[in-house]
Amino acid sequence: MTTEFSESKQIMEQLIQVHRSGKIDAGRNIQAGYYRGWGLEYGEMSSIISSLSAYRDALAKARDRGCMLPENKLQNLFIIILFGLESIQGDIIELGSYKGGSAVFMADLVKTFGRSTRVWALDTFAGMPATDPVRDLHNQGDFADTSYEDFKNYSEKMGLDSHLHIVKGNFDQTLDGVIQQAKQFSLAHIDCDIYEAVKYSITGTWPYLANGAYIILDDALQSSCIGALQAAEEELVSARGLRAEQAFPHLVYRKFNQ
Ligand SMILES: C[S@@+](CC[C@H](N)C(=O)[O-])C[C@H]1O[C@@H](n2cnc3c(N)ncnc32)[C@H](O)[C@@H]1O
Repeated sequence: MTTEFSESKQIMEQLIQVHRSGKIDAGRNIQAGYYRGWGLEYGEMSSIISSLSAYRDALAKARDRGCMLPENKLQNLFIIILFGLESIQGDIIELGSYKGGSAVFMADLVKTFGRSTRVWALDTFAGMPATDPVRDLHNQGDFADTSYEDFKNYSEKMGLDSHLHIVKGNFDQTLDGVIQQAKQFSLAHIDCDIYEAVKYSITGTWPYLANGAYIILDDALQSSCIGALQAAEEELVSARGLRAEQAFPHLVYRKFNQ
């Protein structure tokens, strides 16, 4: 990674700096949000990240698993994991893993970066539970074309097992057990698309998020997930008064202790 970093040294140094000492305003590091979001949408960030072998290796594995996330979201996860999580203690939790694409991506990165962070990947692995017919566009049983066993075998084959913990079941049946083992999270990647599940993901993980932890909402700005946006508005904006740190390529919030 050293040679690759030196090629884009200035931007990398700015990223390190802004994540270490950016000013916290209204509960978010908005400067860091601009660096990531604007850099990915209009700047050189995307081509710089794409040139890094750590990114490309993790991306190849995400694609093996049919990852639904476009590259700009994976690139933002890359920046946050490498620079944002540098000084935040706690595991990563993903609520909504489907075939495991984004979970494998994150687990491969923490392994490559030599971190002890674990990635907890939660899903029914049997499709969506009952959805809200008014708020959600998705239906019960969507995303059923996956398999816990297949995902687990892939994780073992790729040597990711000590970093990736795959947990099968509805979140309301599995989250408590994960919390008992993980104790604290530095990042919650919420990718479950529907109102009740996003609401449960936020309220269930909130007390266990570390100071400065990232809450990333994969789908709240998708045209098919207005229920997910409503859950975020209710739980993060109205109930907890948070303001977004980043709105492209996905919504990012932070939890800072008062
Ligand atoms: C869009 S997919 C996740 C995509 C995945 N992150 C990727 O990398 O491709 C959404 C997933 O959320 C899961 N899900 C939604 N509500 C859930 C709940 N209450 N409990 C467990 N899984 C849930 C669905 O089963 C589905 O697999």
